[in-house]
Amino acid sequence: MNKPMELTGKRALVTGGALRIGKAITLALQAAGAEVVVHYRHSEAEARSLSPFSVQADLESMEDCTRLMKEAGSLDILINNASIFTKDTLAPATPERVRQEFNVNLFAPMELTRLFAAQAREGAIVNLLDRRIRANDPTCLPYSISKKGLEELTKLAALELAPGIRVNAVAPGPILPPPGNSGENFRELAGTIPLDLLPTPDHIAEAVLFLLQADYCTGQVIFVDGGQHLLGNGV
Ligand SMILES: NC(=O)c1ccc[n+]([C@@H]2O[C@H](COP(=O)([O-])OP(=O)(O)OC[C@H]3O[C@@H](n4cnc5c(N)ncnc54)[C@H](OP(=O)(O)O)[C@@H]3O)[C@@H](O)[C@H]2O)c1
Repeated sequence: MNKPMELTGKRALVTGGALRIGKAITLALQAAGAEVVVHYRHSEAEARSLSPFSVQADLESMEDCTRLMKEAGSLDILINNASIFTKDTLAPATPERVRQEFNVNLFAPMELTRLFAAQAREGAIVNLLDRRIRANDPTCLPYSISKKGLEELTKLAALELAPGIRVNAVAPGPILPPPGNSGENFRELAGTIPLDLLPTPDHIAEAVLFLLQADYCTGQVIFVDGGQHLLGNGV
């Protein structure tokens, strides 16, 4: 029987690791024995309450990405979780709005991956995608493009960084509504999902931990969406 990658004593960076899904991933990694550097942008108090290691950075800025990786120290694990979600169709998607979303959701994960690979000969990366990568949802156009791009980065980086570093991804279905959204539409959705319930942040953390420990998997995407991606635009 193969021994899965041991997480005890490993040092992990979780971007946006202080709240919501990022917090569930931080707690799951800590429960598995890893030391977690919690990255935050605004949620300083929450980050500090979770870990003695926390670093502030605005992932719109590539200079901040460089500083974040320096201050995070020597890492074994990188979780690209932080993200911006904007309901923008093409018309209101000005270059500035698109740049912000692409920077945080795609260019920062790419830069952090590059810097991680420069400092770690061995390790594992997990990117947080969205089940929308298998649909075409024009109501959040820049977000969808950024997550589809991050799926491609997952596969290309998996090839380039093998055999030392594995790169995988988790694609959640709707879990937590964005701030300001009551979640009513999420509850209505539940009845249309093949597995008939919404996922929780812990479902996502479980899949992240599985991929970190699955030491013969790279370039994989696990959909944690109750089968929703199988329906494409159907829900
Ligand atoms: N929620 C869902 O239902 C859902 C569904 C599908 C996919 N996903 C994916 O799963 C991941 C986690 O989802 P979530 O809803 O928990 O994420 P979220 O709350 O929308 O964002 C996570 C964190 O990203 C950080 N962030 C945002 N802009 C930033 C910037 N410019 N620089 C640095 N950090 C920034 C924020 O940190 P601070 O709080 O510190 O400012 C925020 O707490 C995301 O990648 C998302 O796309 C989520």
